[in-house]
Amino acid sequence: MKHLLSISDLSKEEILSILELAEKLKFERQKRIFKEYLRNKSLAMIFELPSTRTRISFEIAMLELGGHALYLSWNDLQLGRGEPIKDTARVMSRYVNAVMMRVRNHSTIEEFARFSSVPVINGLSNLEHPCQILADLLTIKEKKGRLDGIKIAWIGDGNNVCNSLILAAAKLGIRIDVACPEGYEPDSDIIKFAHSVGVFKLLRNPKEAVMNADIIYTDVWASMGQEAEREKRLKAFKDYQVNENLLRIARDAIVMHCLPAHRGEEITDTVIEGKNSVIFDQAENRLHAQKALLINLII
Ligand code: CP
Ligand code: NVA
Repeated sequence: MKHLLSISDLSKEEILSILELAEKLKFERQKRIFKEYLRNKSLAMIFELPSTRTRISFEIAMLELGGHALYLSWNDLQLGRGEPIKDTARVMSRYVNAVMMRVRNHSTIEEFARFSSVPVINGLSNLEHPCQILADLLTIKEKKGRLDGIKIAWIGDGNNVCNSLILAAAKLGIRIDVACPEGYEPDSDIIKFAHSVGVFKLLRNPKEAVMNADIIYTDVWASMGQEAEREKRLKAFKDYQVNENLLRIARDAIVMHCLPAHRGEEITDTVIEGKNSVIFDQAENRLHAQKALLINLII
């Protein structure tokens, strides 16, 4: 049994085979072909934080694979009244075939996974967002025709999505330059690891990062749980906006954002709606990538 708490829980070969299956499932869906790989299988989805894409894409993925997904908000479970995570994990894994969780603290999902007898999938924590990255890699492969030799420029906060993207880049040999203000760097262990692999550069200047980039990726300046720091962050990140001037430096880079976006902050409306944006295809790919992941983990 395997969990996906971090993108680094998957080997390079596993990631590539998930992407291959995702492409096949996407193609079949376009032809309205649905195969019930997960007939009679169920997925519990526990949310401690809100979600649009993660919730819907997992729920529809299970439906289209012939299985069932349960949406469980933290406060509607006994967890909200203080039932221990280790009890919830042991009980829940007797009912369902996998659990997907979105949690405030990464340690919560680690504890759940320790006591779960079924696969646990990280649907976002403060540390990582591995499911997002599977969809992103699928999108890059689709749009650029390859993953080899790609250069990504991450502009803005060194957050959960950035951490997982760096780990995936290190695994796949993709180059990633992160431009962020001082104090907003990615996780220090992840930086250390990425440096040891030699694919990563930490920069302060966004213009330097986007030079020769194939992908420009950004995300919100204040993630869920950081709402109180919003004003401080707006100031710290004011020179880190993905706008047309920045895009011009990179020439034909595609623009990615995991969404939800704050137009006028980390990215402009013109860039989101512009011809270089692949943001909505990227959001769609959550569905295809997660179907492939679920098949891999559950069967
Ligand atoms: N990108 C992403 O995970 O979106 P949601 O927060 O809507 O699930
Ligand atoms: N970094 C963002 C991603 C949302 C999908 C957050 O954690 O809120």
